[in-house]
Parts: sequence; C-alpha cells; structure tokens
Amino acid sequence: MSAGNSIKYCMDWGMKNRISRIINPETGRCVMLAVDHGYFQGPTTGLRNLGESVNPLLPYADAIMITGGALKNWINPAMNKPVVLRVSGGNSMELPDELSDEVITTNIEDAIRINASAITCSVYIGSPHQRQTIENLAKIVNEGNKYGIPVLAVTAVGRRLSQEGGKDAKDIVRNERYLGLASRICVEMGAHMVKTYYCDEFEKVVAACGNVPVVIAGGKKIDELDALKMAHNAVSAGARGVDMGRNVFQSDCPIGMIKATRAIVHDNAPVESAYDVYVMEKARSGKQ
Ligand code: R5P
Repeated sequence: MSAGNSIKYCMDWGMKNRISRIINPETGRCVMLAVDHGYFQGPTTGLRNLGESVNPLLPYADAIMITGGALKNWINPAMNKPVVLRVSGGNSMELPDELSDEVITTNIEDAIRINASAITCSVYIGSPHQRQTIENLAKIVNEGNKYGIPVLAVTAVGRRLSQEGGKDAKDIVRNERYLGLASRICVEMGAHMVKTYYCDEFEKVVAACGNVPVVIAGGKKIDELDALKMAHNAVSAGARGVDMGRNVFQSDCPIGMIKATRAIVHDNAPVESAYDVYVMEKARSGKQ
C-alpha cells in the first residue's frame, strides 16, 4: 500500500467527515475561497472591509480559508461554511526577505473552539526558514491527527538569497520541479491536502502527491479569462479544485468569478462557457 493510501485508510471518521465538508464528495472537487492574506499583507485590496467583500461570496464557496481574528471580526458565526483556519503568521510585507520566518500562532484548542474543518500553514521550501516552516507543518499535522482535524499545507513561494549569499535576492522559479518538490515534502510530513501554484506540466506535481488532494492558489490578479483558463488547466491536470483569493475578490465582478470557477471545477465546463457565466453575472449586476 502506498504512503498516500495508508494515510487515506488510517483516517478516522471525523477526519473523513471534515474533508468531505471541504471537498464535495459528489464531484471530488472543491472551490475554496482564500481570504487569509491580511495575516502578512494587512488590509490588502479587496479585503479592506473583509466582511463586505466576503459575505456575499460565501453562498458560492465550498469552504473559506481565513485567520481566526478575521473570522471573529467579520464573519457571522451563524454561517454554515467549513472553515480552513490559518494557524501560522509572524511575517509581514515590511520584511520581504524574511517572509519565510513563520511560526504557529493559533493552537489546536482554539481551532476546535472555532469549529475549524481544517487547519493550515505555509512551508517555504528553499527559503532561509525552510526547516522552521516544515517543523510548523509537522507540528500541526501531529495535533490535527490527534483530534481528527485535517491539515492543508500551503507551498508558499518566498525569496531566497542568491548562491553567492550577497544582497541580491531572486525569486524561486515556479516550475514543476520546484512545486513538485515542495508539495511532496508536505505529503511526506503527513499533510491531508496540499495547496500550491499552477505551472506547466502540473500533472507531475499532482502525481508527486500520490493520493493527497491538490488544489491551486490563484496568485496575483490576472485577467478573468486567464484565471479561468488556469483553473481549467489545473483540474484537467488532476487538481481537485482551487483555493483562490485575489482572482475572485479583486475581480470587477467577484460573484461572477466565483460562479464561473464553480462551473469549471464542479461542472467540468469549458473555459468559454465559464467565462460566459462571469460576463452574464457582470451584466446582471449592472457592472458593465
Ligand atoms: C497566501 O499566503 C495565502 O495563503 C493565500 O490564501 C493564497 O496565496 C491564495 O490566494 P491567492 O489566490 O490570492 O493567491
């Protein structure tokens, strides 16, 4: 039995039930709405008033990825969407070369009190604090396994010093080699779901994760049609859906974008039909 299968069959009922709340058992896929950006970006565009932006989108999301503080401030506890709770932080945009310096900020008891359906933290492979962030992941996997709470591991792409160790920092290349490496490390640490970026040859990243479901982040805001193409390419390559933020809440029609994304993820809609969903919603809401 492969490592992925072994994890799958060892999950207890609560673990399976929580994952089923996030990944729709009928389609095997998921449209997660990521709105945790403030934990290191502050009041980022589209989330300045998080409640105003996010509450209208909740009916169309399968799950919401958020910090405990944002949840308590802006989201009504009567809502009934599964929460994927970010439990790491300690970094900020003010120190871009130290973005990888994350620690665990929220304990498992608070996650349980919040009724989290999953917990999440980032790993920064190839960054100065790589080991610390892998330890963060391992720690929350151990805690999550104790209580039947699954862990979504996020492969963050930070920055690293050049080989020469000088002042020059360079971006880590988002290719299948790097993202496959980072995602596989998350799987080996026992993550129950992996969130990573889309890249060419994405099927190799999915294959590197065995039976562990992989979802993609949207990344920086791009043109709506391009974002939908990316979601389509990702699920065609085996991704189990998206955990998208900026390409939804920074769109000129966020409801149109999340509905269009749902059409791709859950209905296998072609990109053109999904884009029509976005265009029609935009027209309907008078934004055109
Ligand atoms: C990033 O650190 C956060 O985990 C975001 O939730 C993640 O980047 C996904 O959001 P986006 O689609 O905006 O990239």
